Amino acid sequence: MFPKTIAWQDNKVLILDQRQLPAKEVYLECADAAAVTEAIKEMAIRGAPAIGIAAAMGLALGALGITETDYPSFYSELNKICDSLKGARPTAVNLCWALARMQGVCEANEAKPVEAIKGLLVAEALAVLEQDIAINKQIGANGATLVPARATILTHCNAGALATGGYGTALGVIRRAWEDKKGIQVIATETRPLLQGARLTCWELRQEGIPVTLIADHMAGTLMRQGEIDLCIVGADRIAGNGDVANKIGTYTLAILAREHEIPFYVAAPLSTFDLTIKTGEEIPIEERDPSEVTTLGGRSTAPEGVAVRNPAFDVTPHRYISAIVTEDGIIRPPFEETLVRFRGADGR
Ligand code: MRU
Repeated sequence: MFPKTIAWQDNKVLILDQRQLPAKEVYLECADAAAVTEAIKEMAIRGAPAIGIAAAMGLALGALGITETDYPSFYSELNKICDSLKGARPTAVNLCWALARMQGVCEANEAKPVEAIKGLLVAEALAVLEQDIAINKQIGANGATLVPARATILTHCNAGALATGGYGTALGVIRRAWEDKKGIQVIATETRPLLQGARLTCWELRQEGIPVTLIADHMAGTLMRQGEIDLCIVGADRIAGNGDVANKIGTYTLAILAREHEIPFYVAAPLSTFDLTIKTGEEIPIEERDPSEVTTLGGRSTAPEGVAVRNPAFDVTPHRYISAIVTEDGIIRPPFEETLVRFRGADGR
């Protein structure tokens, strides 16, 4: 079984605090939208689909707290909460996708009493969570067909149950290949600076007994050259119309290394991660995070005081390095400009 990343309980949102993993399994109790916004910003919850779900639940919490009873005032208050949730993290499009879906429910039910709309918003947020788990299982089933028996699979960051409503995208493919008894094993990159690979992916896989070996990020090239990696699979935060993929910083480097060593490089993501309103990855906003994430490790300083730092949290991998994108609707192959059009999300983005 996979860990419970997020839950709705007694009109509160419970979030497994990923900053404390693997040392402690602690749930944050968020009683209002501001607390959920903070949890996303500070990465108590992270991973594109998971922050989409958190945003939907945060907005539902926010709706419950609105005292206005006429629709126009309620809608205007709801939009203010939406705007602050949207500002929490800029790169993963799932956050905007989930909020747009919630706003759509509100607008479609304009004629109903505000109290009824609040109930519908809570139900919608729960549906976003439940559907995400089902979508991931389908991604897993589709992607496992790409995994040969006894494959050694490299993954980067955490695109697992912790990054989603459950089961995971890239780790969903790995989970399914394991359930299918393919005898696979995983190489997890540690994923500096925040160590999502070491702390989260290794923790998740070990809980299920899936063999995993941890490497420092820069060791991947050597393992590839030595023939120790059969395929790479990662998640995504936003996929542009031409198939360019924004994902955790370091993905681009791995994709180039994989091409050099003729190793397939797969991306697994739900359709809610596609942003077909943008043509290329150049248009994807890349979050730059606090320098202290780079200058410290485990709370200890690892660099001279005041040193200049760059800390982009994501990079863009050009589509030419991607062998295929696995979605719940099937496997998309190059040329992505042509094949992606057929996989437009349900909301037409
Ligand atoms: O900064 P993070 O930890 O939110 O970054 C997460 C990633 O880059 C994941 O690979 C991506 O969101 C896909 S999660 C299914």
